Amino acid sequence: MAEKFKIQGGEPLKGEVSIGGAKNAVLKLLAATILVKGSTKIYNVPHLTDVDIMLNVLSDLGAKFVYDKVEKSVVVDASNITSITAKYELVSKMRASFIILGALMSRCREAIVALPGGCAIGERRVDFHIKGLEALGAKIKIENGYVHAKASKLVGTDIYLDIPSVGATENLMLAAVLAEGSTRIQNAAQEPEIVDLANFLNTIGADVSGAGTSEIVINGVKAENLHSAEYTTIPDRIEAGTFMAAVVATRGKAVIRNVYPAHLTFFNDKLIKMGASIKLAEPTAIEVSCKNRLNSINFVTQPYPGFPTDLQAIAMTLLTTSNGVGIITESLYENRFMQVPDLRRMGADIHQDRNHAIVKGVKHLTGATVAASDLRAGAALVIAGLMASGETIVEKLHHIDRGYEEFEKKISQLGGKIIRYDDENENLITKGVFNESCL
Ligand code: EPU
Repeated sequence: MAEKFKIQGGEPLKGEVSIGGAKNAVLKLLAATILVKGSTKIYNVPHLTDVDIMLNVLSDLGAKFVYDKVEKSVVVDASNITSITAKYELVSKMRASFIILGALMSRCREAIVALPGGCAIGERRVDFHIKGLEALGAKIKIENGYVHAKASKLVGTDIYLDIPSVGATENLMLAAVLAEGSTRIQNAAQEPEIVDLANFLNTIGADVSGAGTSEIVINGVKAENLHSAEYTTIPDRIEAGTFMAAVVATRGKAVIRNVYPAHLTFFNDKLIKMGASIKLAEPTAIEVSCKNRLNSINFVTQPYPGFPTDLQAIAMTLLTTSNGVGIITESLYENRFMQVPDLRRMGADIHQDRNHAIVKGVKHLTGATVAASDLRAGAALVIAGLMASGETIVEKLHHIDRGYEEFEKKISQLGGKIIRYDDENENLITKGVFNESCL
């Protein structure tokens, strides 16, 4: 079924929207549930295809789960783990499945996990994950596209990461929970999702400190110290940033609820420099508005707390109609400007040179048919459609569905004119505020 969005641009987004649980946190929390020989309940779980994939990974290992989509909770019972293999069919669909390697090493001291390939946005190697596990004492063979890791015991040690990789930090934290002695991860990633994983691990009985700084210490505990627990996932800062940008892009005014403002400091600062107004409405709610044409800014994507790469494409969309020239440097991924050709088709003036993009603001974008090439590029094109004059069709929605729960419903709730439809038989799938005769 070829689902598409049809967007009628030009409506300022107004009202209120509530942000869901963080995709990039919840996937790791779900992987971590297999450390507990019992049941763990996680709240604030967004309904995303990536979450479904991680639940399939757990189920293949023998864990049982109950996913309550109304309560947005998942109970995982990992009393019995019957397999140590994460299949290529699942890992190739979602790289984050590779996080199960560290969790399986903790629980079973052995794991066979498919190596994720590169992906559309870059090579995305896993060498730090492997080297870190070896430093903890695992013997690792890579055969037939699978990583086979085994250890009679894991022993804590100092591990220095060449770059603060989110996934490597998480995999090594998981592997070290039941290791003998202390593990110190230096140059660790500091993302809020890392802190969430550490908090979850401590809630189930692990001993992790320093998460959120560049040095994380995991004191190994005994398996019998780990126990069942309930835990609530943090809000998704990238979804929050996406909605803030959409409001600013359409010169709207809205309150974004269920946000931790401190997680968005750098992004908020850039939006303010562009001319947006951002106010703390409540401790977990931000009021964002914008009346005038935006100013251009320059920015470089960096690991947290720097400008998030996951909001780069979205910020580029804002620059397309800003006043002046903005320069973007993408420092994390080799190929994360895939939105550029489609933004150009909508009238943007963007010059790309390796990992730099020079965006010269034009007066306005015009609607066109475009296709999501990855999750965040897809969201950027939806925002471009909301800004543009006329109609925009966004294809390849499966990318967007990986990370945005009920995206079009939330946009419609803010007054954006967007519908999802199935091109093959012209069926309307989600009713938005839209002129249905356009179908
Ligand atoms: N890297 C290596 N070797 C490694 C690990 C990473 O060279 O062993 C490189 C990667 O190739 C990349 C850079 O380090 O160039 C950063 O990678 P990192 O490991 O930090 O990223 P990740 O864990 O694979 C997570 C998010 C991404 C987000 C990045 C950076 C999840 C599931 N994914 O990926 O999110 O862009 O951190 O913040 O947590 C998204 O949500 O759209 C998304 C891509």
